[in-house]
Amino acid sequence: MMKQVTKDNLEWFQEWANEYDNTLGKVKRHHKLLDLVVRLSGIKRDDRVLDIGCGTGLLSLKFLNKTDCTITAIDSSAQMLKIFQEKIEKCNLTEKIHCAQKSAEDMDFKSNQFDIIAATVALHHVKFKEPVIKNVYDYLKDGGRFVIGEIDLDTTGKLDDPKRLLRILNYLTKELALAMKDGGTQAFERMYDNGKKHILNDGEYCIGFSQWAKLCKNAGFKNMEVRPLKGFESFKVLVATK
Ligand SMILES: C[S@@+](CC[C@H](N)C(=O)[O-])C[C@H]1O[C@@H](n2cnc3c(N)ncnc32)[C@H](O)[C@@H]1O
Repeated sequence: MMKQVTKDNLEWFQEWANEYDNTLGKVKRHHKLLDLVVRLSGIKRDDRVLDIGCGTGLLSLKFLNKTDCTITAIDSSAQMLKIFQEKIEKCNLTEKIHCAQKSAEDMDFKSNQFDIIAATVALHHVKFKEPVIKNVYDYLKDGGRFVIGEIDLDTTGKLDDPKRLLRILNYLTKELALAMKDGGTQAFERMYDNGKKHILNDGEYCIGFSQWAKLCKNAGFKNMEVRPLKGFESFKVLVATK
């Protein structure tokens, strides 16, 4: 059992894993976000990449589709990793991708070893982000890049704050429409269930990009650039260079 992910949340992801590629994996906006992360990462041949909260491997596979690199992929859910591992074996990529069941809070990599560390819609699940980002800085080589693709949404504050609730509901209205359009009722239902978790701060701890940038600055990153995902104002990509 992972130390930092509560049992309830681990179970929620275990269950989602079986339908991930048929729900969020069907949403075109999600692929556009991952494509932007890959593009802005500036990945080069032979780079070493760490994918935090890799899920079923959608981002890692896009990195490998772009260029010949090696990837370490971690996730707290064994079922997400099982599905990813099946894809790795099917595509003969066992030499290129190494998966490990590990939560972001329990990372223990050596210093200065990755060219790129990326995380897409994964780090908002981490409640205490500061130590994780400090570790990310440590694991990157000098000049290495941390690339976060995330929801630009501040869900901090009191659960009964109407302004907070309105912010989340505005975001959810757009996301649920996309889920229904691209993934049908199965995607809608899963994302609706997920929406409730955002409202209740139940394993979902989103922050805005000014907050992500501040955390990166405090960890030692010098250059930070935030890019919007065109056409989808709630999603952005931050590139922080060590
Ligand atoms: C929304 S999915 C994103 C998966 C993938 N990055 C993508 O963009 O398709 C979030 C993933 O983060 C994983 N996760 C949640 N909390 C985590 C944590 N504390 N450490 C590592 N992975 C975590 C979940 O198991 C899930 O696979």
